[in-house]
Amino acid sequence: MSEGDSRKALVFGGRSGLLGMTLARTLENAGWTVSVTGRPEEWAYDVESLRAFIASEAPDAVFNTWAYTQVDLAEDEPNEARRVNAVLPGIIGRAMRDMSAALVHYSTDFVFDGKKGAPYTEDDATAPQSAYGRTKLEGETALTAAGLARLIIIRTAWLFGPGKKNFVHTMLNLCATRDSLGVVHDQVGSPTYTPDLAAYSLALLESGASGIFHVVNSGRASWCELACEAVRSAGLPCTMTPIASAEYPQKATRPAFSVLDTSRFTAATGITPRPWLQAVQEYVYRETADDTADE
Ligand SMILES: NC(=O)c1ccc[n+]([C@@H]2O[C@H](COP(=O)([O-])OP(=O)(O)OC[C@H]3O[C@@H](n4cnc5c(N)ncnc54)[C@H](OP(=O)(O)O)[C@@H]3O)[C@@H](O)[C@H]2O)c1
Repeated sequence: MSEGDSRKALVFGGRSGLLGMTLARTLENAGWTVSVTGRPEEWAYDVESLRAFIASEAPDAVFNTWAYTQVDLAEDEPNEARRVNAVLPGIIGRAMRDMSAALVHYSTDFVFDGKKGAPYTEDDATAPQSAYGRTKLEGETALTAAGLARLIIIRTAWLFGPGKKNFVHTMLNLCATRDSLGVVHDQVGSPTYTPDLAAYSLALLESGASGIFHVVNSGRASWCELACEAVRSAGLPCTMTPIASAEYPQKATRPAFSVLDTSRFTAATGITPRPWLQAVQEYVYRETADDTADE
C-alpha cells in the first residue's frame, strides 16, 4: 500500500488504555495512520464538540475503548459508570450518525448472568448482575439505536496484555514475593490476550461485517487456572490454591460461567481464535524478556 492509501483510525482510549494502546500499535503495524486520545474529557460529552473533533480527524474507522472499568467501584458510583459506559456511547453514536466511518465498540461478558452453563452466543438473553454489566449493556443499546452507517460491537472478556496492570500481571507480581496464593476457582470465563483481540478486531472490520460479535481467545479457564498457567510459564515456585468466590468477597457480583461462543466471528472472518493457553505463554515470555532487558 502506498502512503497515500493509508487508512485512518481514531482510537478513543488509545493513549493509556489496556486494549487501546495495543489496538493503536496493531493498526499502525498494519499500515494505518492512527490518532489516539486519553480518558474522555468534558468536551467529549457534548455531541457537537465530539462531532467536530471526529470530523477534524476524518477517520475511516473509530475504535471506542473508553469505559468505566472499575467493576467493584461501579457499585458505589453507578451514575459515573453510566455516564462513561452508557451516556458516552450514545453521544458517540449521535456524533457519528451522518458519517461514513465505521465504529468498533467494545462490550463485555458481564452482560450475562452466568447461569447458562454453556458458552454464550450473541443471541442469548442478557441479564447483567452488576452496575458495570448493566451500564455496558445500556451502552450497546444506545449505540444500536443510533442508526450508524456501520457499527461493530465486540463483546470480550478477561483481558490481559502489555502496557497496563491486568490480572495476569498482578498474579506474577504477587507470586514473585509469596510462596502460595489462593485464587478463585468457581468463576469460569474466556481469558483474552489484547494483541490477539486487536488483530481479530481489525479482521472483523476488514470482513465488512456489522452487528454484535463475541471475540475472545478459545478455551475456558477459572481465574485460578489462568493464574496457575501464568505462574508456571514464568517458572515461579509459588503454590496456587483454588478457593471459592465466598472466600474472596467482592462488591460486584460476577457471572459464575461467562465463556463466550465465537462461532459468529469465525463465520465472518474465517479465523478461529487461538487458545488462551498459547496466548498467556507468549505474554509471560514477552513480559519476562522485557523485565530482563530492563535490568
Ligand atoms: N479489561 C477487561 O478485562 C475487559 C473485559 C471485558 C470487556 N472489556 C471492555 O474492553 C474495553 C477496553 O477495556 P480496557 O481494559 O482496555 O479498559 P481500561 O484500560 O481500563 O480503560 C479504557 C479507557 O477508558 C478510560 N477509563 C477507565 N476508567 C475510567 C473512568 N472511571 N472514567 C473515565 N475513563 C475511564 C481509560 O483511561 P485511563 O487509561 O486513564 O485509566 C482508558 O482511556 C472496555 O470497553 C471494557 O469495558 C474489558
